[in-house]
Amino acid sequence: MLFRELNRGKCKTYIIACEKKRKAVLVDPIKEKVDRYLASLAYFGCELTSIIDTHTHADHRTASWEIHDITGAPVVMHRQAPAPHVAIHVEDGQSIAVGDVRLRVFHTPGHTPDSISIYTAGRVLTGDTLLIHGTGRCDFAGGNAGEQYDSITQKLFSLPNETLVFPAHDYRGHTHSTIGEEKQTNPRVAGRTRPAYVELMANLGLPLPQGIQESLQPNQSAIEDESIHFPTLSELNQVRQLTAQEVHTFQISAHPPLVLDVREPEEFTGELGHISGSLLIPLKELPSRSHEIDAYKTRDIVVVCRAGVRSTTAAAILTGLGFEHVSNLKGGMLDWSDQRLPVE
Ligand SMILES: [Fe+2]
Repeated sequence: MLFRELNRGKCKTYIIACEKKRKAVLVDPIKEKVDRYLASLAYFGCELTSIIDTHTHADHRTASWEIHDITGAPVVMHRQAPAPHVAIHVEDGQSIAVGDVRLRVFHTPGHTPDSISIYTAGRVLTGDTLLIHGTGRCDFAGGNAGEQYDSITQKLFSLPNETLVFPAHDYRGHTHSTIGEEKQTNPRVAGRTRPAYVELMANLGLPLPQGIQESLQPNQSAIEDESIHFPTLSELNQVRQLTAQEVHTFQISAHPPLVLDVREPEEFTGELGHISGSLLIPLKELPSRSHEIDAYKTRDIVVVCRAGVRSTTAAAILTGLGFEHVSNLKGGMLDWSDQRLPVE
C-alpha cells in the first residue's frame, strides 16, 4: 500500500493506493492543489477510483467536484453529507475498496454530523474529529461536543494503541500521532469526562474561521460559480425550522404550503424520493426562477433538500427576495425518510 500526505501544509490531503492494482483514492483534496494531485496520480501510475471528503469542510473549498469532473471518479461521503453529486453515501462499518486495499469507515460525528474516519492497515485518518493533541471545534455546521466525545473515546480509542493517527489538519507542524499517545496526552480528552468535555468545548471562544461562508456554502451545495449570492450566517440563523412531522401535519392541513424542493433533478427522482405535490427548482436556478412562485409571496412555503442545509440557504434567499412566510424542512428528506413519511 502506498500512503502519502500531499499538501505539506496545515490542511492535509492523503493519497492511499494499491500498488499492485495501481488504484488510488484521494482524501480531503483542496481546491488550490488539483494540479498537484493529478500529477501525483500520474507519477505513481495510479487510476483514481474515488474521492473521499471526511466531512463538509468549513475552512477551505473542497476539490472533490472538480477532480470528479476531470477524472470521473465518484465522490464518497457520509450519508448525512448535504451536498448533491456525492455519488456514494457511506455509513458506519462500511468498507471502500481501492484495488486490494480495504478502507473501513467509522462514522465519527461531532465536528460535523457527516464526519467519518477511515481506517486502513494500522492507520486511521481522523478528519477533524481527533487532531494531534487536540480535537476539531464543534460550534458550527451542526457540531455536537457530546457526540464528538463519544466518537473519540468509544470508536477511535477502541483501535489498538499503536494505530497511527493522521488528521485533516495540523497547525503545529506535526505529521502524525498514535491512538495510545492521544489517549494518554490529548489535553482535551485525556482524563476528562463527557460533561467536562462538553463544557470545555462550549467555552473555547474561538473566532469563526476567515471566509467560513465562502467555503462552507459552496461545499454544502457544490455550486462553484457565481450563480448564487450566498446568505450571511445571521440570515441563515433566522430561517424558521420545521421538523418532518410538523411539515407533514402542515401539508395535510386545510391550508397546505407550497413545498419547494431545491435538490438536483436526479436527487428528486432518486432513492429518497420527493414529497407529493412538491415543486422542483434546483438551488442554483432559484435566483433566476423565483418569479415562477411569485403567487406565494405572501403565502406559506416550505423548502426541502437532502439534509436541510441547501434548503436553509434557499429559504434565506427567498426571504431576501421578499417572500414573507418561508420555512425549512429541518433534516431534509433524510429525516423525512427516517420517519417513514410518504414519498413519491
Ligand atoms: Fe473541518
